[in-house]
This record gives sequence, structure tokens and C-alpha cells, in this order.
Amino acid sequence: MEVINNKRELVASINQCKKEGKSIGLVPTMGALHEGHLSLVKEALKDNDVIFVSIFVNPTQFNNSKDLETYPRTLENDLQLLKEAGCSYVFTPSVEEIYPEPDNRIFDFGYLDTVMEGANRPGHFNGVGQIVSKLLTLIPANKAYFGMKDFQQVAIIKQLVKIIKSDTEIVKCPIIRESDGLAKSSRNALLTIEHRKNAPIIHASLKKASTFVGDKNVKDIEEWVINEINSNQYLEVEYFKIIDEDTLQPVDKFENHNGVVGCITVQAGNVRLIDNITFK
Ligand code: PAJ
Repeated sequence: MEVINNKRELVASINQCKKEGKSIGLVPTMGALHEGHLSLVKEALKDNDVIFVSIFVNPTQFNNSKDLETYPRTLENDLQLLKEAGCSYVFTPSVEEIYPEPDNRIFDFGYLDTVMEGANRPGHFNGVGQIVSKLLTLIPANKAYFGMKDFQQVAIIKQLVKIIKSDTEIVKCPIIRESDGLAKSSRNALLTIEHRKNAPIIHASLKKASTFVGDKNVKDIEEWVINEINSNQYLEVEYFKIIDEDTLQPVDKFENHNGVVGCITVQAGNVRLIDNITFK
């Protein structure tokens, strides 16, 4: 496995791969890797001759400086996991390497970033757009892999590739969970013991709510989930929205939509946890 931390070496490696006619897979991450990330790596290894995993805690997507400061960084362990997984190249640039000057680009994601994470974390998806567009330009992969845990992010990135006219195919990968149902996340490591113990209630409530389709209407299910989770003293729902899977806009009736997903963000102490469930 080759570890690259500058653009010059990266371009040389990409050129070599292209010359050899190898297909390239890209897995963008912010490190603190867990089985969720590794499932993307496995998928990418299945589909491509070589894969590039990027590890970069992207400052422009953090709208909260405390969150950026406390974001877990475990590079040595990450490299070990990637080596064991069979990864070909890891790109771990510095902030200066990626942003030698400020990136002032503003992307127009239309209505996709006006809801949920977009509404609650101003500028977050524009920052995601900046880093992912830079990565897709530096590493013009055949396919790039993203997890459905960040449901809205996948929709944004699919829009981004249209905006920047990238040829990279975006591959969506399923959510990987702990055995108690909590979606795996780098931020789980920051939970206190009590918050960690109670966090599985999020997925349990969503799963139960998905059995109500047909009996309860959208509004009642939303209310039920919010009350169920908020009745736990360690958890506080920031939002729970039942949305159309393509437009991300709120749905009125399940019958009027093909794909319907419930997206949630919960504050567990100082940690924001996000999750979602397919209703239809
Ligand atoms: P990060 O949170 O490190 O996640 C990297 C990728 O792993 C994302 O596509 C995310 O959806 C996926 N992932 C995380 N937890 C997962 C889980 N439990 N199951 C399946 N996939 C999971 O998302 C980002 O980084 C950044 O925004 C990034 C796209 C790298 C841009 O900076």
C-alpha cells in the first residue's frame, strides 16, 4: 500500500494506473475508520483494479469549530486497517495541500441543501462539495463510493457530479450498524458511557416506526418518533423528517411517492448522531 500526501505524487500514481489501463475506485473519508468505511473499501476493491482511499478532515465542511477540533484522528490505526483490507493507495494531504488558497466556490444544489442537515448546518454541504469536487478532479476514478448513512450527502454528491461534469459513477453503499443497531460512526467514540448505552434507541424507534406505514399517517409517525426518542433523558431529536428519496422534500402521503425515507439527527450529549430508515 502506498501512502501519498501531496498532489504531485498523486498525479504520478494516477497517470501510471491509467497508462496500465487499470480501473480506479475512490473512497473519500475523514479517517477514524470503522467497519462502515471498510464496507465501502471492500465494495470498491470488488469493482476496481486499484483503489484510492482519501483521509482528510475537511475544515470547510465544519460549521462548528469545536466539532472540527474534537473530530477523532487515528491515522496510524487507519493505515493499518486499510493495509489489512488490501487498499492500493491512501491519499492523506495536509490542509495547505488541498487549500493553498481559500476555496470561494459556492455550489447551487437547489432545494437539496435547504432541508435537514443543510438547514441545520449552514455551509456544510458547500464544504462537502468543495472537497469532493477537488478529490474527483485529482482522482478521476471510474467509481466513487459513499455510504447511505449520510443519505442527504449522497443526493448532494450525485448533483455535484452533474454540476462539475464528472464522469465518475457514484455508488451508494448500505448502512453498517453495531450489533445493538446504532449506526457505526467515527463520532460514536466521543459518546459518554450513558449516551452510548441509550443511543441504540434511535434505530429501534425508526425500525418500529417503519412498521406503522399503512396504519398511521406521515405526521403521526413523525410525532411518534420524536416523542419516543425525546422521552429518553440522554437523547434529543434535532429533526426527524419523512421525505421523498429523490427530492428530499417532505412527503404528505406515502401513496404519492415511490421511495420514502425517514431521516433523523439526534443530539446525544455533545455528539450529533445521524441515521435514516427506508419506509417504502
Ligand atoms: P466520513 O464521515 O469519514 O464518511 C466517509 C464515508 O463513509 C461516507 O460516504 C459515509 O457515508 C460512509 N459511512 C460512514 N459511516 C458509515 C456506516 N455506518 N455505514 C456505511 N457507510 C458509512 O462523509 C464524510 O466522511 C465526508 O463528508 C466526506 C464525503 C469524506 C467529504 O469530506
